Amino acid sequence: MIVTTESQNPELSLKEQIASPCVMVIFGASGDLCKRLLMPALYNLACDGLLPEGFAIVGMATSARTTEEFRANQREAIQKFSTRKTFDQAKWDWLESRLHYTAGNFSDPAAFANLKTIVQDVGGKFGSQGNTLIYLAISNSLFELVTTQLDEGGFKNLPGWIRIIVEKPFGKDLQSARELNKALLSRWREDQIYRIDHYLGKETVQNLLTFRFANGIFEPLWNKNHIDHIQISVMETVGVEGRGGYYDTSGVLRDMIQNHMFQMLAYVCMEAPASFSADAIRDEKAKLLHAVRIPDVAHDTVRGQYGPGVKSDGTPTLGYREEPSVPPESRTETFAALKLHLDNWRWEGVPVYLRSGKSLWKRGTEIVIQFKKAPEVLFRDTLAAGTIRSNLLVFHIQPDQAVEFRVHAKRPGPLMSLQKVDMRFDYSESFEASRGTGYEVLLYSAMNGDATLFSRSDFVEAAWRIAQPMLDKWVSTPADEFPNYSTGTWGPRAASELLTRDGRYWHEIVNREVLARNAILKDASPIFLHNLSLSLTPLTIDAGETIFSAGDTGRDMYYICRGEVDVIGTDGKSFAKLGEGQFFGEISLLLHEPRTATIKAARQCALFVLKHEDYERVIKDFPKVDAELRVLAMARKARV
Ligand code: BG6
Repeated sequence: MIVTTESQNPELSLKEQIASPCVMVIFGASGDLCKRLLMPALYNLACDGLLPEGFAIVGMATSARTTEEFRANQREAIQKFSTRKTFDQAKWDWLESRLHYTAGNFSDPAAFANLKTIVQDVGGKFGSQGNTLIYLAISNSLFELVTTQLDEGGFKNLPGWIRIIVEKPFGKDLQSARELNKALLSRWREDQIYRIDHYLGKETVQNLLTFRFANGIFEPLWNKNHIDHIQISVMETVGVEGRGGYYDTSGVLRDMIQNHMFQMLAYVCMEAPASFSADAIRDEKAKLLHAVRIPDVAHDTVRGQYGPGVKSDGTPTLGYREEPSVPPESRTETFAALKLHLDNWRWEGVPVYLRSGKSLWKRGTEIVIQFKKAPEVLFRDTLAAGTIRSNLLVFHIQPDQAVEFRVHAKRPGPLMSLQKVDMRFDYSESFEASRGTGYEVLLYSAMNGDATLFSRSDFVEAAWRIAQPMLDKWVSTPADEFPNYSTGTWGPRAASELLTRDGRYWHEIVNREVLARNAILKDASPIFLHNLSLSLTPLTIDAGETIFSAGDTGRDMYYICRGEVDVIGTDGKSFAKLGEGQFFGEISLLLHEPRTATIKAARQCALFVLKHEDYERVIKDFPKVDAELRVLAMARKARV
């Protein structure tokens, strides 16, 4: 945990690590966020013994319900949303007895007067010492209204501290973010405002700083002399999941990139702060965002929107425009990829590629640091010639939680040949900690007055400064090509081209489960699957494109991760279709013959290419797989 507060000093006993007493007021308490994330996080804190006796919650929302009903709702929800392996009834009862609810209209001053009385009564009963933690789990159009009502309702006069946690999105563009900051800061001090970004609550995100700065090995290499480029990907398999109304006014740039992804960008690229104090870290983060050159939107950005597709089990899925509450002509982007340049001494000339999207082939947040390639000279006259690739450091943020370093090793045996291998630290192998929601550390920090994991106004505005030209350009030039990627692929073709034109490609981190969908690979040894997964190169092909033609020479083979291809004979007729989890191209690879058929994408395809030299390397110790593939190749050849 990167937060350093007095209460987290290891010298202190558990009693002294307990959060500061307070009444937590949740605006929007009847909503989804409260039951899905806030309550499970508070319950986790209670189970870990980190909530004080002097703690209570007052929920406020417009819907009428009693405290008893609110408790019953939360009791039911916690069974569903708790992240713990076992349920501790006593801890829940402790927390439930502290829940209170009041209904009120946010524009009614009387509702705030009533709220203040309840906060004082509840605080007096439980011993909150007059401290109040406000959580705005409401639409951002209400932030100004509610914070004004709190001020005018005299909440500042309560005897203890008062802090306000503000949910995202913080504004919808640079102008509105500035106005919101101005409005909030005209009534509250910056140190009372806690702008939340739940990515900063993720252990793996917090670990970015620890990893960089607690290990002497990385910092000397962390610059343009050694790093070729950086990729940050946040991929989701889900679509907009019933949030079409909200999402259509947002799009992925506002929803994911301007906040969550820029936070990660800052952690990966910022300078070392002088200490772990909130402002030392936040100064460096803001400084980094200020160094981002405003992107050339036409050249360095790509946007996409998902169309209908099929899930891996064959069920059809809706395109974005068919989703509930989304206009059928919507031009909102559900995918974006950007190339950013950082204009500072450390990163000059090192591009950072960012991409995020909904309805993609897998759920995965990954940060890949690609180092510069080693020179080949030593290996020039060996079997290893031409096989040296760049080392990669991969931060698996979620759902895998790991850090992986991809390097070369010598293959065992008398010959000098290399193979890609990896060194990996997996959270699940090193720690017992049960996974939380990510909100635990954020709530705990706010209770202790530690703003390290919250965004300061300058960071938020600097982030909008980068996003603004894209927002402007995309609104003034609506996309004609939407939808431009199928559900379940790895996004629009143009996103691949953003990198291929720089001689690079997105590292699609494939896991064994994906490969094991193929009958031949299903029972293959984990070592083989692992080695194979390190040797694949991704390729995006649009529907209708020819991948290769009969008679072509070429020895690489292809694995269909997503999509479908037609196999077309020399008579020009399609005689077979190949789908997800299947191979093609193996006849030429294994039998050293020209291509026997033409392969054309029937749908947009996400393919993995296996080069013949990599095949030969990884197959060496696995003759059984090789034999099975040869049987397949011969059978297919006979059909042509
Ligand atoms: C939210 C976005 O902030 O983050 C959602 O509004 C997105 O659209 C979610 O799905 C992703 O969060 P996580 O923690 O699942 O990566």
